[in-house]
Amino acid sequence: MNVQGKSRYHEVYARSLADPEAFWAEAAQDIDWIEPAKKIFDPAMGTYGRWFAGAVVNTCYNALDRHVANGRADQAALIHDSPLTNAITRFTYAELLKEVQTLAAVMSDFGVTKGDRVILYMPMVPEAVVAMLACARIGAVHSVVFGGFAAKELASRIDDARPKLIFSASCGIEPGRIVQYKPLLDEAIKIASTQPQACIILQRPQSPCDLTAGRDYDWSSLRRRALLAGKSAPCIPVLATDPLYILYTSGTTGVPKGVVRDNGGHLVAVKWSMFNLYGVNPGEVWWCGSDIGWVVGHSYIVYGPLFHGATSIMYEGKPVGTPDAGAFWRVISEHKAVAFFTAPTAFRAIKKEDPEGRLIKQYDLSRFRTLFLAGERADPPTVEWAEAQLKVPVIDHWWQTETGWCIAGNPVGLGMLPVKHGSPTVPMPGYQVDIVDEASKPVPAGTMGSIVIKLPMPPGCLPTLWQQDARFKDSYLSEFPGYYKTSDAGFKDEDGYVWVMGRTDDIINVAGHRLSTGGMEEILASHPDVAECAVLGIKDAIKGEVPCGFLVLKAGVTRAPDEIEKEIVALVREKLGPVAAFKLAITVGRLPKTRSGKILRGTIKKMADGEPWTMPATIEEPKVLDEIGAALKGRV
Ligand code: COA
Ligand code: AMP
Repeated sequence: MNVQGKSRYHEVYARSLADPEAFWAEAAQDIDWIEPAKKIFDPAMGTYGRWFAGAVVNTCYNALDRHVANGRADQAALIHDSPLTNAITRFTYAELLKEVQTLAAVMSDFGVTKGDRVILYMPMVPEAVVAMLACARIGAVHSVVFGGFAAKELASRIDDARPKLIFSASCGIEPGRIVQYKPLLDEAIKIASTQPQACIILQRPQSPCDLTAGRDYDWSSLRRRALLAGKSAPCIPVLATDPLYILYTSGTTGVPKGVVRDNGGHLVAVKWSMFNLYGVNPGEVWWCGSDIGWVVGHSYIVYGPLFHGATSIMYEGKPVGTPDAGAFWRVISEHKAVAFFTAPTAFRAIKKEDPEGRLIKQYDLSRFRTLFLAGERADPPTVEWAEAQLKVPVIDHWWQTETGWCIAGNPVGLGMLPVKHGSPTVPMPGYQVDIVDEASKPVPAGTMGSIVIKLPMPPGCLPTLWQQDARFKDSYLSEFPGYYKTSDAGFKDEDGYVWVMGRTDDIINVAGHRLSTGGMEEILASHPDVAECAVLGIKDAIKGEVPCGFLVLKAGVTRAPDEIEKEIVALVREKLGPVAAFKLAITVGRLPKTRSGKILRGTIKKMADGEPWTMPATIEEPKVLDEIGAALKGRV
C-alpha cells in the first residue's frame, strides 16, 4: 500500500481545481473524438455550463470498436456469471461488438434514431448490456429501470421519457422465485399515458411469456434475422453534450428525477477513474457487483471497464444463498478479478453467514488487490471485518446517481492515502467539496453541515434533469448559491477527509438502494382507511436501514388494524416494488407533532432504533410518545 506523501493525489487534485480546463483537456486525450471540443468548458451553455462543448464523439465506439481495432478483439470484454441459471457466458470485444452492431441495426429498422428514448426493463443478462451499447451506438438515449421496481414506477418513467422502444425480458430470477416481467410491463404500459411503438422481449427459458400481437417482438428472432441478412449499424456521431442516458432516481416526492448523463463528460471522467481511482489496468479483470438498473452498474459494469479495455464481470446472483456466502470469492477467484466493487450491505450479509470467513480460505484470491464499497456509508465494523478477512485495502467511496462517478474516494492509481474507517477519504479531482451552514458559509473543520460541491461540477456529473431545467435548479442549485447541493450532511476533518454521515432530506438507503420515504407515504395515504401516516428508515443489521410505516386510521374504521397493516405492506410492494423491503406497518392512535404540526420523525426513529431520546421542547402533546413506545413494543 502506498503511504501518504508518496501519493500523487494532492498535486493532481490541486491542479484540477487551479486549471480545470487544462486538467480535463489532458484526461480527454484518452478518448477517441470525431471532432475535438471547441471549448473544454463553456460556462454560457446549459444551467451551469457544459463540458467539451462542440466536440463530436460516439460512446459505443470508445467502448468497443476502438479496442477491436487496437488489438483487443479476442480479449474478453464481458463475462456473465449467473449462479441463478448455472451459466457462465463470455463475450470477446469482437463478439460483443458484433452483437451490438446487429441489435443497433434492428433498432434502426424500428425507426429509432438519434435522440429517441429507449427504456430497458431487464434482469441482469448480457443482452441488457448489448441493448445499452446499441442505443449509444445510434445516439438513442437509454433509460434503464431496475427490475425490482413495480409497474407504477415503470409507468412514471415511461411517461417522463416517452420511449419509442422498450426492451424487456420474460422474467427475472430471484433466489427461489421467478419474477414475471411481462405482466408488470403490460400493466405499466396500460397505466402510462404514452405508448411505445414496440417492445422487444427476450424469452428466457426459465419462464417464457406470451407476446402481445402487433406490439411485442421476439428478441432472438429479430437478432437471428438481422444476422442472416448481414445487418450492422455504424456508430452515429453525437455531440459530447448530447444525452447518453437518463437514469431515474428517488426525489423527495413520489415523482422520480430523470438524471441526464451526457456523452463526452461521462466518457472522460469514467475512463479517468478506472486507473486513477480504481487502480485497474487495461486487460485486467474488474468486477462491479451492482445491478445495471443503478448508476453504479451503468458506470462500472458497462461503461467504465469497456472504455478502459478491461474485462467486466456481470453477476446474476446474490452475496449469500447462490449457493452460499462464498459466492463472491468463487467469482473473484474463477475469473481472476483484480478489484471488486460492491455495497457494504452485501458484506454484512456474508459476515452474518460466515463470520469466521471460512469460505474465503477455500479460494485463490492471490490476484485480488482492492475492495471498493459504496452505495451507503461503509460502517467501520464491516470495513474492519473485510480488511481482516481479505487482507487487501478496503476502500469506501461516496457518490450519487447525479454525479455518475465518485465524489470522494481513495485514489489507488494515484497512490492510496491512509484509510480512516468511516470516511470515504478525499474529494476527487474537479470536485471542490465544501461543508456549509444554512447561510452557505463554509464551517470550520470538524463541524457538521451540508455537503455541497462548488459549481461547475466536473465532467460526468448531471447537466440537468430530463426536460426539467427548472426542477434541476430548484432541487440542487438554489438553496446554496454557487453550489450543487448533495443533500448529504457531514464534515471535513483537519486532513481534508470527508465524512458523510446522513441525508438532509427524506431519502433512506435500504441495502444500498436509494428510496424516498415521501414516495412511500403517498402510497400509504392512498389506502382508503388511512387518515395520516409517516414512513421513516429504522436500523437494520443487514440492510442498514429498512422503512417502517406508522398509520393513523380514519375515525369509524372498525376493521382489525393488523389486516389493514398487511394490506399496506402488500400495497407498497405492488406500487413501488419488492426493492422497497417495506415489511412493517404499525397502527398508532396519533402521531407525535410539534406545536406547528410537524411530525417528530427524528424522535420516533430514535425510539424505534432503541437509541436515547429526549422530549422535544416543541412537542404538542408529550403523552403521544408513550403511545408510540407502547406500539413499538415487540414490533421492532
Ligand atoms: N427484480 C425483482 N425483484 C428484485 C430484484 C430484481 N432485480 N432485486 C431485488 N428484488 C427483490 C428481492 O427478491 C427481495 O424480494 P423479497 O421481499 O420477496 O425477498 C426484495 O426485492 C429486496 O431485495 P434485496 O434488497 O436484494 O434484499 P435481499 O433480502 O434479497 O438481499 C442483500 C439482501 C444484502 C443480499 C442484497 O440487498 C444485496 O446484495 N445488496 C447489494 C446491493 C447493491 O449492490 N447495491 C448497488 C449499490 S453499489
Ligand atoms: P444513489 O444515488 O442511489 O447512488 O445514492 C446516493 C446516496 O447514497 C448518497 O447521497 C448518500 O446518501 C448515499 N451514499 C452512497 N455512497 C455513500 C458512501 N460511501 N458513504 C455515505 N453515503 C453514501
